This record gives sequence, structure tokens and C-alpha cells, in this order.
Amino acid sequence: MHHLAVFASGTGTNFVAIAQACQQGVIHADVAIMVCDKPGAPVIERAREFGIPTLVFNPKDYPSKMAYETEIVQALDQKQIDLICLAGYMRILGPTLLHAYENKIINIHPSLLPAFKGAHAVEDAVAYGVKVFGITIHWVNDQLDGGKIIAQRAFPYEGSDPAEVHLIGQKIEHQLYVETIQKILCEP
Ligand code: GAR
Repeated sequence: MHHLAVFASGTGTNFVAIAQACQQGVIHADVAIMVCDKPGAPVIERAREFGIPTLVFNPKDYPSKMAYETEIVQALDQKQIDLICLAGYMRILGPTLLHAYENKIINIHPSLLPAFKGAHAVEDAVAYGVKVFGITIHWVNDQLDGGKIIAQRAFPYEGSDPAEVHLIGQKIEHQLYVETIQKILCEP
């Protein structure tokens, strides 16, 4: 049995999709821990509903990124985590986590990378007049939304409403993330 860690900062719809897929056996793993850097984020309640242990912290309570990432690494080691899935975790990882879990961290981003990095990818793409949007899953390095691409899925949209793009993209994200995680776990 593989063990996943999901990192999230917000609503947690991707977290729910992954947790459900594990429960239903679509992903052959369990979510052993959900890590959240925003006390009060809705994803924490979602994790409780699934009975998944959480590590919730406020970065401001620590003297450095190294300090809280050391605590995270200890918790992940205890759970023998095979793969870390960032799912709306709005924080750049530091060397403590990146070195401890090298080649074991993936992220999902709501654009066709390397276009439109950052926290407002969909809004930026709409403002630019983009007609083909998309979702990217990639390995994580020390750059914002950087790292080698694993999977991408594009969809056409000719309107100008970011909320609509988010809605279309969300459904694709959930499917693509579940498929990609299962594929990675199956790789020798
Ligand atoms: C997702 O759309 C994900 O692609 C995005 O945050 C959202 C989280 O939604 N991530 C990034 O923008 C990373 N740069 P969720 O909390 O409902 O899963």
C-alpha cells in the first residue's frame, strides 16, 4: 500500500477528489496526512470528514521556513509517505522538504505551463485573451510552478469569465490528478 500526503491551503476540491479516489480504490493508496498552512481553511474540515489526520500550522509561528518544514518532514517520515501531492498549496517549498522528498513531489496548476505561473493563472490568462486554457501537473522544484511537466490537458474557451474557466478547469483537474497519481504509483 502506498501512502500519499496532500498539501492544501484552501477549499480542497482536489484533496476531496484524491481522497475519494483512494477510498474507491481508483488510486491504490491512502491519504495518510493532509498538510495545511492556513488555520481555518475549509480543506481542514474536509479532511476531518474523511478521517484523515491533519498537520495544520501557521508559518508566522515559526522563525523560518526551515523550522516548519523540519516539522513537516518528521510527520511525513512517520507516515512513510511515498508521494506528496500539492493541491492548491500556495507556498514555494524550501530545500528542507525538497531534499528530503526529492523526485516525490508533484503539483497541479490551472494553466498550460510554462504560461501563466502564480496564484492568478486563470485571471491572467483571461485578461490576456487566451482561447485555449488548460491544466498542468508537474514535478516540483524550487521555482514557482516550475519543474518538469508530467501531464497536461487543454480545453477551448472563448468567453471572458474567469469563474467559468475555473469551473470547467476544476472538473478536468480532478480527473487528471487522480489518473496521474495512479500512473506515477504504478511506475517501477
Ligand atoms: C486549483 O485550481 C489548483 O490548480 C490551484 O489552486 C486550486 C486549488 O483548488 N493551484 C495553483 O494555482 C498553484 N499555483 P482546490 O483547493 O479546490 O483543490
